[in-house]
Amino acid sequence: METRVANHAKGKVYVDKLLGTGMAAKQATIQYGKENVIDASMGAITDDNGTLICLPTVEEQLRTMPIQEMIGYSPVGGLPRFLEAAIKHTFGEFTPDAYICAVASAGGAGAISNVIWNYSNVGDAILTHDWYWTPYTTICKETGRQLKTFNLLDTEMKFNLRSFSSMVKSLLLEQDSLVIILNSPNHNPTGYSISDSEWDEIKSMILEEAKDSSKTITLVIDIAYIDYTKNPLSARAFMKKFSKLPSNIVVTFAFSMSKGFTAYGQRTGALIGVSSSKSVIEEFENATLVTSRARWSNVNRGCMNILANIYNDNILLKKVNSEREKYNMLIVDRAEVFIKEANQIGLKILPYHAGFFITIPCDQPEDVSNRLITEKIFVAPLSKGIRVAACSVPVSQMYGLAAKIQKAIVMSDTVKL
Ligand SMILES: Cc1ncc(COP(=O)(O)O)c(C=O)c1O
Repeated sequence: METRVANHAKGKVYVDKLLGTGMAAKQATIQYGKENVIDASMGAITDDNGTLICLPTVEEQLRTMPIQEMIGYSPVGGLPRFLEAAIKHTFGEFTPDAYICAVASAGGAGAISNVIWNYSNVGDAILTHDWYWTPYTTICKETGRQLKTFNLLDTEMKFNLRSFSSMVKSLLLEQDSLVIILNSPNHNPTGYSISDSEWDEIKSMILEEAKDSSKTITLVIDIAYIDYTKNPLSARAFMKKFSKLPSNIVVTFAFSMSKGFTAYGQRTGALIGVSSSKSVIEEFENATLVTSRARWSNVNRGCMNILANIYNDNILLKKVNSEREKYNMLIVDRAEVFIKEANQIGLKILPYHAGFFITIPCDQPEDVSNRLITEKIFVAPLSKGIRVAACSVPVSQMYGLAAKIQKAIVMSDTVKL
């Protein structure tokens, strides 16, 4: 095969397994009718008719916005009203006592990519949990970093502090900068949320390591699903813990409008930096601005305006929160049906607190997924399990799904033996 790309780009092939599954599900829906197909692959909220939903107030804002406010350029760092709103939304009542700065990004993915670029060196390892959102590894590979993992869960299905500490310690022996990505609450793909006391343990562990001032530890907290917790207000309580930390611990939040405001394709988010040092946060802003200018220049003005407008008007904010709550309850109902049945038949699932997805661990995810496809059930195969998107499967189709998955796993295991 003729190759013309530069050396660093050789051999790159983009494989989007999820998109493939999603397309196959759509094809099956056309062929067999949507009532005969279960599409549990999609990471977006659909109503019980399978239609992608948009929070009505978000839609209204978008449709009534003056065209110039939609199509115009915006500052590289984002509209100031948006940045203020993004900070308010992220922290709620739990703003850390620290210097805080937000820089707009192309979604949460852009925020994560920017922090990895500026807070690690080429060749460095980036640390995250073993169950993780695949783009983390894509971002690392693309930027010459390598993603390493610790075990998210221990044998009691709680945050595995031991595995986390041992990876942090060993990586800090090899490198001076360590970027750690933690996706909580309502982690993708499991639905796990790190508890407040687990955050305390994580914080003490990092504080201990940060006693060596030659090291810089950067926490990236991926909060893409935070608004789908049972109590979105108290879900933010842990954020206050990042007050007055030593200046060699930089805490960042990847804020995204994709899920919380159903603005998936609008590509709007922000990287929010938190530090006890004014100069560290000024440096954060400068470095992030330059990377943003180099990567995407500026982000979607219309979508930034939506958030700013919502946070400028208490009535709009209340409406958005109650619209989201309605869809959150829909997800809760769907997840409850699945989990109850899974428990009844003894199907092991990973701890689910809330959020879009439920994960079932299994040995041969691809095989299990293929077996389910023959029954017109489409799930996302992961490396160590399969993921069911509670956000997009109607309640009626949740009944019996756990048993079908269990059967596919048993058949797959039997053939392997
Ligand atoms: C774990 C996780 N983090 C972040 C995101 C952010 O996505 P976006 O770039 O659309 O904001 C997603 C979206 O699927 C996700 O699943």
